[in-house]
Amino acid sequence: MRHLLSPLDLSVEELDTLLDLASDIEQHPDKYRHACDGKKLATLFYEPSTRTRLSFEAAMLNLGGNVLGFSSADSSSAAKGESVSDTIRIVSCYADICAMRHPKEGAPLVAASKSGIPVINAGDGGHQHPTQTLTDLMTIRSLKGRLNNLVIGICGDLKFGRTVHSLINALVRYTGIKFVLISPNELRIPSYIRQDVLEKKHVEYQEVERLEDVIGGLDLLYMTRVQKERFFNEEEYIRLKDSYILNAAKMALAGKDMLVMHPLPRVNEISVEVDDDERAVYFKQVQYGVYVRMALILTLLNINIPDA
Ligand code: NCD
Repeated sequence: MRHLLSPLDLSVEELDTLLDLASDIEQHPDKYRHACDGKKLATLFYEPSTRTRLSFEAAMLNLGGNVLGFSSADSSSAAKGESVSDTIRIVSCYADICAMRHPKEGAPLVAASKSGIPVINAGDGGHQHPTQTLTDLMTIRSLKGRLNNLVIGICGDLKFGRTVHSLINALVRYTGIKFVLISPNELRIPSYIRQDVLEKKHVEYQEVERLEDVIGGLDLLYMTRVQKERFFNEEEYIRLKDSYILNAAKMALAGKDMLVMHPLPRVNEISVEVDDDERAVYFKQVQYGVYVRMALILTLLNINIPDA
């Protein structure tokens, strides 16, 4: 039985196969309409979510399966003090696969160790968010045509942003990737990623504070929200929350092919005037998220569709 706790749980070859499957699903959705007939996905969400939970549910429904679950810790037995280990043993009796989001780093790993069904990490605290990374990789591969030889700007809350940590972990396995890490000093990338991932793998990167200075040289700009819920100090959040606002004036400094991505939800960091710019692909990214989650469910449940 396999789980997806980190993007590194899939080798580069497995990831390629999964993205090929997701593209096939995009092109031939009818072929997959009954692939999960009779199967159940449980969504165990101890933290708020719109896209991730609904896209998992849409993915399973598109495959002909059913969904069950809870969308907040308050409405589950966690409110009575039940442990994640016990909850997953129970859910293993009800469902065939589950997606778990939890505010504590490592909770899905604990769940996986006690689970009788595949566990997908749908975001654990400020740590990892591997299915957002699959979404991001499919977006980049589909719209840029490659996952190598790219200059990738990542801007905003690089300290607490789990989507950033997972994306960097996944992309360092490709060749010719250069990162431009744009953040206020207080929200720089954690040192464990700088040392254990970027430096260890000899990946080229630079850290800067001003977006305007670097936007002209990027193939891709990945904007992120300042993660309010992970701050200990509200004053610090208020001081940093509007550090970056991407607007039409800044987009005018960017190349004509630079894609703008964002895992969403957006707060103020991308002005709505950017939405109509052809280079803004964050709403397309959401659609890719459904295809990759469909492909992931099929992969972890070992379901093969003939001639897929
Ligand atoms: C992200 C998350 O939950 O980490 N959202 C998502 O799943 N698309 C990003 C965020 O909340 O800022």
